[in-house]
Amino acid sequence: MRNDEKIVLGIESTAHTFGVGIATTMGRVLANVKSVYTPKSGGIHPREAAQHHSHLAPEKIKEALKVSGIAPSQINAVAFSSGPGMGPCLRVGATIARALSLKLSVPLISVNHGVAHIEIGRLTTGCRDPVVLYVAGGNTLVTSYKDGRYRIFGETLDIAAGNCLDAFGVTTGLGLMPNPEIKSYEGKKFYYLPYKVKGMDVSFSGVLTAALKLFREGVRLEDVCYSLVETVYSMLTEVTERALAFTGKKEVLIVGGLSRSKRLKEMMMEMVKLHDAKLLVVPEEYAGDNGAMIAWTGALQLLTNQTISIEDSKVRPRYRIDEVEIKWFNYL
Ligand code: FE2
Repeated sequence: MRNDEKIVLGIESTAHTFGVGIATTMGRVLANVKSVYTPKSGGIHPREAAQHHSHLAPEKIKEALKVSGIAPSQINAVAFSSGPGMGPCLRVGATIARALSLKLSVPLISVNHGVAHIEIGRLTTGCRDPVVLYVAGGNTLVTSYKDGRYRIFGETLDIAAGNCLDAFGVTTGLGLMPNPEIKSYEGKKFYYLPYKVKGMDVSFSGVLTAALKLFREGVRLEDVCYSLVETVYSMLTEVTERALAFTGKKEVLIVGGLSRSKRLKEMMMEMVKLHDAKLLVVPEEYAGDNGAMIAWTGALQLLTNQTISIEDSKVRPRYRIDEVEIKWFNYL
């Protein structure tokens, strides 16, 4: 380990995942452990998820230290995901991070969860300046770096793409993703669903309602899944393509939980070929929410002195990625 290499412990707790990561300023991920809260029925209950996080936190922190072989005294900063996310969940992570920062007498770093998804994607795929599709259960947006910020080209006007597919799966008894997509591979007949791209933004609630209506009318489930998956992914591919054409960039990066989707990758691959661009996808381990992405983005912020005082370390459930000044962009 180099003398100037600093170690950051990162805590992720925006939604169902409590994650602890340890990463260094040289881009080495030393630990990435997590525990995911699964609701007994329906969607995530924020208070139940927060309870899960607070119960599991001590064990997961110890596990991350053990996996990394790092002693608490070697940690140079503590980072936490300050938003966007569910208030009760965010507060658990923030409280633990503040306590650790005080106990270890090291700086505290507030990390935007969406920015962290992008940075772990850039680190692990080696891409430099991509158009990014950040697509997950709680977020859907297309962004790219320009003049010190990740600018949002388009985003969902209502629910996230992942949420749309998960909600369809849960209501129809298929369960969460990837089950609805797997079912869609057996589909043969395509039914029109409201394809809503408005400017550069997308809307999925109408697609979900229409797909559920078809299901209730007795249309073959495989065909509804096929129609739903193709419609949702086409919308995502269209807005990403327009951002790529507009910026003239040569890389497309997919991050977030839905980046695991086989069909989405196929569609995006066809699209990037038409633009002589390259498709990069974050590795599965870092696709969903994880502590490593918070630790790594924390390390980048440590390098650029973007730390925060305990007094200012509020959580921000609606924290947008374009509010963050990206001082480290050319460090990679
Ligand atoms: Fe996420």
